Amino acid sequence: MPRTPGYPGRVVPVILGMPTVRRSGPPAAPADRPEDPRLLDRFGRVATDLRVSLTDRCNLRCSYCMPPEGLPWLAGDEVLTDAEVVRLVTVAVEHLGVTRVRLTGGEPLLRRGLEAIVRGVKTSRTARGMAPDVALTTNGIGLEHRARSLAEAGLDRVNVSLDSLDRARFARITLRDRLPDVLAGLRAAVAAGLAPVKINAVLLRGVNDDEAVPLLRWALRNGYRLRFIEQMPLEPHGTWRRSDLVTAREILDLLSTEFGLVPVHSSVRGAAPAETWLVERPDGVGGRAEVGIVAAVTRPFCGDCDRTRLTADGQIRTCLFARTETDLRSLLRAGASDAELAETWRVAMWGKQAGHGIGEASFLRPERPMSAIGG
Ligand code: 5AD
Ligand code: SF4
Repeated sequence: MPRTPGYPGRVVPVILGMPTVRRSGPPAAPADRPEDPRLLDRFGRVATDLRVSLTDRCNLRCSYCMPPEGLPWLAGDEVLTDAEVVRLVTVAVEHLGVTRVRLTGGEPLLRRGLEAIVRGVKTSRTARGMAPDVALTTNGIGLEHRARSLAEAGLDRVNVSLDSLDRARFARITLRDRLPDVLAGLRAAVAAGLAPVKINAVLLRGVNDDEAVPLLRWALRNGYRLRFIEQMPLEPHGTWRRSDLVTAREILDLLSTEFGLVPVHSSVRGAAPAETWLVERPDGVGGRAEVGIVAAVTRPFCGDCDRTRLTADGQIRTCLFARTETDLRSLLRAGASDAELAETWRVAMWGKQAGHGIGEASFLRPERPMSAIGG
């Protein structure tokens, strides 16, 4: 198949004629794919969770995600418009069985039209006549001023990334002194009813690996649901080392020194990647809460993966670690019908790889940086 400029590995599913745009239609369904409207793959998985990156830009520079100088950003006309995002998400919900949508970045709050996107996505309907569940993954900067308008637009929940409660350390990790903005954003999210507010934390060896217990204590006091995420090899300069990884086992051991943890059985967990423990809340607060660990590296959950991804420039990615993409934007802009877009998405997902392969000799990181894929 021909390749488009941009990230290598991009696959163009249709051939566009010039100057009048002629489409040859979506790719033919592979012979071994059963007739099924859903996003199936060869390994028996069904994708129902769509992650949409709305921008590759960010106002932080977390060391494990983005280099200090930033990245070569996508050009304005490469990025899907608000209406294009809503159209593609609606196709996924109404034709492909997607029931959950997560808006990510880069930093999705940098999109001025975020409320309009949320509103548009919430008007789509699943086969059962339900609106999809819509969540946002954000660094929290600016949430203070938008939590209410996002909730009013129909946003169901937020996940806020926060790796340190120490202001100087936060600034060292993100290269920006913005901890107070994040904390204000969290309070605004609670006030706007975007509950339960979840926190994503990545522990880095020698940087914030002493914060597992303080972060959990703080989250329990404030009613936030904390999840630790093992650091994946997606950082800009290829410095990730398996031997430096703060593993799920280690995090659990650290937490166990302070808290009684009771595992939540995996049948309750479903396809959610976080393994979850019940934890007693501190004296004076009472009751039980949950803490999660996403052991993406040491206990991969690829076999249960139910995700499909759309990048800010309209490429389907079947996996965070995929090395090829399928170009929906060209098809969309050439006037494709919903049915054609849906069929292209189905064919793309049928080719999803079995797993990320981190740790295998043949492992290669994706061409796109994490900030351009979306968490
Ligand atoms: N490994 C694990 N998590 C990461 N995130 C960003 N880069 C990585 C990485 N290399 C997380 C962010 C955020 C979410 C979008 O993904 O901390 O919470
Ligand atoms: Fe921005 Fe999130 Fe990447 Fe940090 S992890 S630089 S907040 S996109």
